[in-house]
Amino acid sequence: MDKLHNILNLLLPPLTISFLVFFYPFYLLIKLVSCLYKNIRFENVAGKVVLITGASSGIGEDINFWGSTYITYFAIPHLRKSKGKIVVITSATAIIPLPSASVYSASKAALLKFFETLRVEISPCIKITIAIPEFISTDMTTQFKEMYGSDFILSESVSKCAKAIFRGIGRGETYIVEPSWIKWIFLIQNVCPEIVDYVLNYIFVRYGKPYFKRD
Ligand SMILES: NC(=O)c1ccc[n+]([C@@H]2O[C@H](COP(=O)([O-])OP(=O)(O)OC[C@H]3O[C@@H](n4cnc5c(N)ncnc54)[C@H](OP(=O)(O)O)[C@@H]3O)[C@@H](O)[C@H]2O)c1
Repeated sequence: MDKLHNILNLLLPPLTISFLVFFYPFYLLIKLVSCLYKNIRFENVAGKVVLITGASSGIGEDINFWGSTYITYFAIPHLRKSKGKIVVITSATAIIPLPSASVYSASKAALLKFFETLRVEISPCIKITIAIPEFISTDMTTQFKEMYGSDFILSESVSKCAKAIFRGIGRGETYIVEPSWIKWIFLIQNVCPEIVDYVLNYIFVRYGKPYFKRD
């Protein structure tokens, strides 16, 4: 068995790099065509069961996760009957390590992985759209504004975020990241996580140090 792992360790890096060099341009082309198609063919969800979960405030780490998973379990038979949809609100903190939000981020990461795995299990019968917002101007973010001042947080308006999520659901997107520039931070986080760690530490811990209770 160890021999097999050694062979895979040797084979997979060149195979993956060749795959990215040769196949990735085609993949992007397919994504572009599919994006244009989805924009034209906006899905009408009338008559279907649509479960929207995680939309209430991040009211507690346990509820963040179990509140969404239990309700999904009981909704699945109804969703199957009507070929319905699940829309789940997670957070960019599930991917980006935001200081002072470790337990909240862990619950959102659990939610993200749960629904990503469920999507593989129940697709194509039930479609799952995962919304990944960050810094939206709601009551939840006012605490940050109070801490750092109104200019500190680059927050997006609730209406812009809601419209983007609504359009994304109609287009049958698998992920909706809002504001969409956050996707580029995800890419940097995947390729060179140390840079994201350093920048976040600098902004939130060193710059924001006087605002945190550290004991
Ligand atoms: N805001 C952000 O920057 C941000 C970023 C990433 C992810 N999210 C996620 O987006 C979702 C919505 O967050 P939000 O920013 O819209 O939060 P919010 O403005 O604080 O709250 C949204 C709604 O949650 C309901 N709510 C609050 N406490 C509740 C409770 N104990 N039981 C039941 N409902 C309760 C309230 O409904 P009523 O008005 O009816 O009381 C409120 O309108 C959360 O899952 C959050 O984790 C938000």
